[in-house]
Amino acid sequence: MSVDPDANLVLVGFMGTGKTEVGRQLADRLGREFVDMDRVIEEREERDIPAIFRDSGEPYFRSLERALVRELAARRSLVIATGGGVVLDPANIEDLGRTGVVVCLVATPEAILQRVAGDTHRPLLQAPDRAERIRSLLECRRPLYEAIPARVDTTARTSAEVAEEVLRLFRARVRTG
Ligand code: S3P
Repeated sequence: MSVDPDANLVLVGFMGTGKTEVGRQLADRLGREFVDMDRVIEEREERDIPAIFRDSGEPYFRSLERALVRELAARRSLVIATGGGVVLDPANIEDLGRTGVVVCLVATPEAILQRVAGDTHRPLLQAPDRAERIRSLLECRRPLYEAIPARVDTTARTSAEVAEEVLRLFRARVRTG
């Protein structure tokens, strides 16, 4: 089966793996629209993610995320940065993969910890021991991220280097199907 050249390019991966920055660069290079799912959810809700989690709960956030996945999977020619928990519902990855090339960005827990130091915008990381929180969340989700065949390690690499490798993977998939 050949991959549609207009297939979406979808970045998944744990918090702090660089999905947003890499996605923005990829959209620039491909001349495509960039969609950052978390930002779209915040705009539509007219409140930020910490407020959504605090006032409406994580299940409500996941339902918004699920609905947005369905909407975006019906479109083409997008570069999409998902939120780190999009893998929690396998239907999300199925939908995104039907009309897009899904690439998972990965990094060591140490690199993630460094990148999210001082972050106050991620409710799941507001724990007394952030290093432990990252390690345990990563451990729970590891099989979900590992189930995505196209993975790019971002540890100790610049976002431009990561974008270059993602682009190579994407072009190879679109060419060979
Ligand atoms: C989450 C990741 C966040 C955001 C929300 C939940 C997660 O996105 O969607 O805080 O469950 O991993 P980023 O991966 O962009 O930080």
